[in-house]
Amino acid sequence: MIMDTTEKLEKLHALDRECRHLERVAALLDWDQECYLPEEGVGERAEQSALLHRWAHERFICRETGDLLAGLGSGAATPRGDPSLPELEGDFVALLWKKYDREVKLPGDFVASCVRAERLAQSAWARARRDNDFPAFLPHLETLIDLARQRAAWWGYEGSRAYDGLLDIYEPGLSQEDIAGVFSPLREKLSSILKEIASQPPPEDAFLDQDFDPDTQRRLSRRLLEVLGFDPRRGRLDESAHPFTTTLGADDVRITTRYHRRNLLSNIFSVIHEAGHAAYEMAFPPEIRGGSLADGASMGIHESQSRFWENVVGRSRPFWEGFYPVLLGFFPDQLRGVPEEVFYRAVNRVQPSLIRIEADELSYSLHIILRFELERSLFSGDLSPADLPQAWARGMEDLLGIVPETDTEGVLQDIHWSQGAFGYFPSYALGNLYGLQFRKKLAEDIPGFEEPVRNLAFGEIRRWLEEHIYRWGRRLEPAALLRKVTGESLRAEPFIDYIEGKYGALYHLPVSSP
Ligand code: CO
Repeated sequence: MIMDTTEKLEKLHALDRECRHLERVAALLDWDQECYLPEEGVGERAEQSALLHRWAHERFICRETGDLLAGLGSGAATPRGDPSLPELEGDFVALLWKKYDREVKLPGDFVASCVRAERLAQSAWARARRDNDFPAFLPHLETLIDLARQRAAWWGYEGSRAYDGLLDIYEPGLSQEDIAGVFSPLREKLSSILKEIASQPPPEDAFLDQDFDPDTQRRLSRRLLEVLGFDPRRGRLDESAHPFTTTLGADDVRITTRYHRRNLLSNIFSVIHEAGHAAYEMAFPPEIRGGSLADGASMGIHESQSRFWENVVGRSRPFWEGFYPVLLGFFPDQLRGVPEEVFYRAVNRVQPSLIRIEADELSYSLHIILRFELERSLFSGDLSPADLPQAWARGMEDLLGIVPETDTEGVLQDIHWSQGAFGYFPSYALGNLYGLQFRKKLAEDIPGFEEPVRNLAFGEIRRWLEEHIYRWGRRLEPAALLRKVTGESLRAEPFIDYIEGKYGALYHLPVSSP
């Protein structure tokens, strides 16, 4: 049968949407596992997830996909296909070609065993973390590292290059050397500012150490989402051990948070963070809806959005000028007599801490640099998984000057490795860097963009993000998107300048030369 280009494209889009449906049904199972699944249900759930992922994989790598891509002129040398394709279709074909080229190299059995091993590891990790029992998690970790190495090898990344193959899943086009190149000045600068701050008196924050009723915190979350413009008809907020965002459809974006009685800030900043991810996911334009292009450009770009809202907006003075009166309405007794400025200083308290997700905006990236360096050594073979707890302690001492007493507060704190997500961590710190490069451009385009934030009006910022970032979806790789928006390549300076300016003022640090 002879098909013309339009027919081939239509078929490829239909196939892509079908696979996306399968992937999203699988994501629904994962969401359920983190929010509701009873402990004993995990074994059977692992089988169900493995089956769905295998179906999605096999449907995608079927001969039809290969034929359609080849028929459109797409291949290793010409991923965008025939040059006569419209730009949007060229972007689509290039993305599918890359996905196809990756997936077709992985056997279905291998995909299913990865998913099964990950789901089992995840539940073993949750128990090991609860019981402070790293040895119980170790065999799972070793299996997942072997599988990750095997995956990278199938893609042509052998030996110490394996880590590059894994990084490429989350941050297409960025190698471990590229990342080390921006992390190194970051590491040096942040460590030195952190040392200067440690010699300053800490801001007053004793009022945060009180009981904050979880039900009131739940109502506060709803209010916060309303203020941030999260559309409850197109998304939900639930609870899980680790806050996250998952997209189950163009009009079904799920976010989660968690409530601690004695920690008011954890929920507030989790909600703002995840709402930042959701804003991106909810704003892809109609021409890419439902397909693979309706996705973040990369995990790092996604994090640039969540961290922009969490830190640049959510930890700013204008935001608290607007939101503090609202917060007072929820916790009038606990916050009685605490002026807004004192609260603002408390939410920006810098303090080396053991737990990444509770870390302040400044020391946060140091937690990431530790994980990046450990992952790099794991995949280069310099570090064996059994030695991780010791290496973790040494790294913490070196970077943050503190050492965890338990593995629960150390190497077992994060869910990522139990999900086989090696190479994911750098996204968080890259997100900080991208986010501040974007902010610099935003401030040039809209001087005084923070003024309306005092009235909790975010329309202008949101429109700028839509026009410059959201609308591209996954059409551009991160480096190309960054260049299009800012004219620059990835660099750490705008983030470092922002940190120096903000925390220099908060802690009255000596002004460094411009
Ligand atoms: Co995030």
